[in-house]
Amino acid sequence: MKGLPSHQVTKSPEIILALDVNNLARAKYFVNKLYPKIKIFKVGLELFTACGPKIIDFIQKKGAGVFLDLKFHDIPNTMAAAAKKALQYKVAMLTVHTLAGPEALKAVVRVCSGSKTKVLGVTILTSICAHFLKDLQIKRSLGEEVLYLAKMARRCGLDGVVCSPDETKAIRGALGKNFLIVTPGIRPQFTAAGDQKRIATPALATKAGSNFLVIGRPVLEAKDPLFILQKIVDSIRQIK
Ligand code: C5P
Repeated sequence: MKGLPSHQVTKSPEIILALDVNNLARAKYFVNKLYPKIKIFKVGLELFTACGPKIIDFIQKKGAGVFLDLKFHDIPNTMAAAAKKALQYKVAMLTVHTLAGPEALKAVVRVCSGSKTKVLGVTILTSICAHFLKDLQIKRSLGEEVLYLAKMARRCGLDGVVCSPDETKAIRGALGKNFLIVTPGIRPQFTAAGDQKRIATPALATKAGSNFLVIGRPVLEAKDPLFILQKIVDSIRQIK
């Protein structure tokens, strides 16, 4: 899968597995176990640092898509150059931090235009709560700040944003059905929050209008990952 299916808000969101493991063998284990139930695997900082593009190649040969979540946050020239390299891997999605600012975001969009890779802007991490903004003396509320960054992302030409389920409804309302919304911080009722602060169940995130739910530990740490995944899929299917 190179590009992404065009998602409508009315469609069920697709589950992306966050492959947050520290070696190739473990990553392959989960891909083998969960594909084709999972069709997009997220390769983040830990795994990419551990094994580089080998894991991308493995996932794609299997037939699945790759979400390269390296959250680029640097000067415009460096971000654009890194995005150009990422395009060589033909990943379905990549992430940049919106806080890198409009010039950097536009530089990445320019480099990625004409490719099938979707560029997503991370707004405020789901592990961050309201106190953090206060400490930084940001006057806007968390919801306002995330919406502000999402609007900026759209103005700069990004395909969508990463935000928590809490802000999804407002972003969907303000930016329409064609703007991609990817939500981590997904926790089925029976699992632990861990370091995530702004969390919601798969059902709530679906109702709010997410296109993609990113799920890591609830599946990776489960005794039976396939069983948990099926429970999550069932809970989403019940949403009308
Ligand atoms: O294990 P868990 O389900 O919390 O994993 C969430 C994944 O989503 C992690 O890989 C994390 O890096 C990523 N993520 C996030 N919050 C963001 C952006 C990405 O939790 N705002």
